[in-house]
Amino acid sequence: MASSLRLGVNVDHVATVRNARGGRHPDPLVAARLAADAGADGITAHLREDRRHIVDDDIRRLLAEIRLPLNLEMAATEAMVAIAVRGRPHAVCLVPERREERTTEGGLDVAGQQNWLAPHVGRLTDAGCRVSMFIAPERAQLEASRRIGAPVVELHTGEYCDAPDAPARARELERLQAAARIAADLGLECHAGHGISFDTVAPIARIPEVVELNIGHFLVGEAIFTGLGPAIRRMRALMDEARADRRGVA
Ligand code: PXP
Repeated sequence: MASSLRLGVNVDHVATVRNARGGRHPDPLVAARLAADAGADGITAHLREDRRHIVDDDIRRLLAEIRLPLNLEMAATEAMVAIAVRGRPHAVCLVPERREERTTEGGLDVAGQQNWLAPHVGRLTDAGCRVSMFIAPERAQLEASRRIGAPVVELHTGEYCDAPDAPARARELERLQAAARIAADLGLECHAGHGISFDTVAPIARIPEVVELNIGHFLVGEAIFTGLGPAIRRMRALMDEARADRRGVA
């Protein structure tokens, strides 16, 4: 099992608060610097087609001015791929996107859209970006991701985090664990994210094949009460403790 688990801090909702009033405050770039100081390994930002939070200038500044690798989340469209190919972020995570949704709902249907996605994966890879597919924890989606040449998958943890009760959560955790094993068997690097909080992070962090978590909304919400640095430090500590526990039983 990979000994350390990377934390990607998603700064989208810093931009959500900024955009509520316009202007520059709070600045996602300042959040990214704080995240770096608090132990994040990377910064994640989702450039949505409607630019409801992160805008093009944020991506430009994050690429130019932060020292951590940037993971750009985006829809698989010609326009978005062109932006990524120009900016060459460290990583691109392809996500499904509908304008009317409040957040990313469900995973990308890689199995059903292989012909559309494969050339995008190729162009992004040629541009030097590490491409990941944000997918539900399902074998068909993992196999399709492998077939189209994506080296990384990010498992959608929303169903697990939002499960209505303990049995449902346990079932969703099992699906994630099984999917992570399949990813490893297929030679895919495995990440996870969506909806993760202090209460839900540990079981995910214990999945041995998972090497990166991307976490945003909860951290930005928690920052209102404790500050962003302390919220990230606590998340980092919970991840590291869970990982250390897992090593103890391995
Ligand atoms: N990973 C992906 C691919 C996402 O789309 C999102 C949400 O933008 C996240 C992780 C982070 O989810 P959350 O903001 O719920 O922590």
